[in-house]
Amino acid sequence: MKIMVTGGNGFIGHTLVGHLLNEGNDVKVIDIKPIKFTHEKLEFVKKSVLEDIRWEMKDCDIVYHLAAELGVVNSDKKPLNTLAVNIDGTINVFRCALGTNVKKIVYTSSSEVYGEAREIPLKEDSPKSPVSIYGVSKLTAEMYAKGYVQEYGMDINPVRLFNVYGPGQGFEWVVPIFIQKVLNNESPTVFGDGSQVRCFTYIADIVSGIETVMKKGIKGEAYNIANTDQITMKELAESIIKISGKTLKPKIVGFGKETRQKEREIIKRIPSIDKLQSLGWKPQVSIKEGFAKTYKWYKENLGKEELFYE
Ligand SMILES: NC(=O)c1ccc[n+]([C@@H]2O[C@H](COP(=O)([O-])OP(=O)(O)OC[C@H]3O[C@@H](n4cnc5c(N)ncnc54)[C@H](O)[C@@H]3O)[C@@H](O)[C@H]2O)c1
Repeated sequence: MKIMVTGGNGFIGHTLVGHLLNEGNDVKVIDIKPIKFTHEKLEFVKKSVLEDIRWEMKDCDIVYHLAAELGVVNSDKKPLNTLAVNIDGTINVFRCALGTNVKKIVYTSSSEVYGEAREIPLKEDSPKSPVSIYGVSKLTAEMYAKGYVQEYGMDINPVRLFNVYGPGQGFEWVVPIFIQKVLNNESPTVFGDGSQVRCFTYIADIVSGIETVMKKGIKGEAYNIANTDQITMKELAESIIKISGKTLKPKIVGFGKETRQKEREIIKRIPSIDKLQSLGWKPQVSIKEGFAKTYKWYKENLGKEELFYE
């Protein structure tokens, strides 16, 4: 199989690409940043998803579309670029695939599309009301995906990823931030009162979830990919401290204008994963095991810049 991965040089993308190569596939990566490793079955094309990539798609069977401007804070700083890459870039991927041999596209959306939960757990058809430009951009692209499925009969599945973490993730994300602090013998800073609930999902489970949707996803359907182990932000900080064996305490700092605003904070984000489980998938890595693996990796690799995906 020849598989295209856009954003294949990113944190999730490079792990997915490694997995696909291990399975014997030919992989073509489209990214604006050069990929950090080589493989006889790997082809890298330095292009933006905003460019014409029809030619690159011609010999591909499937496309994993991951390329994006990421994160709530980043999208506040670069709103127009976020909207362009995440909406126009995604539409361009769909448009370029029309008339090629591409049989399916999996598009990585985000739990940010739900905003503050109107119901718990969050099912795929739960109300969506994103509170960030990033969330709006991911939801808008999902709506275009639906349009391409309805209008052109394309087979596209959006997958909504919940708080991904694991080796190589850059230092603007909470798990690496807390681990780095603890490794430096500093207290991790928790915003608000630390009672915000999240479900963190280990990178290997994300990759297997994405692959399951690619193989078995029903045409046009969206799927949550998540671990349903719940943890508060204070407990997250405490569990990383516990793994380290150090005698630190989380620093609870509340919300502020300069730091994190209360109005933008999602209090509870708990997914339902019944829909993906009905395809035979379930997460394999508990948060306890995942945090321990991730802590060990950062302890061994802190400072090796080439191994991190910003
Ligand atoms: N990391 C998470 O917790 C998380 C959660 C939910 C959804 N997602 C989604 O998963 C996908 C991958 O996320 P990640 O964590 O690997 O992010 P990342 O930032 O590590 O990777 C994104 C990649 O996209 C590339 N890219 C950016 N603009 C591009 C463009 N115009 N053309 C081509 N490539 C471009 C970047 O160079 C980078 O390699 C994204 O679509 C993101 O929205 C991630």
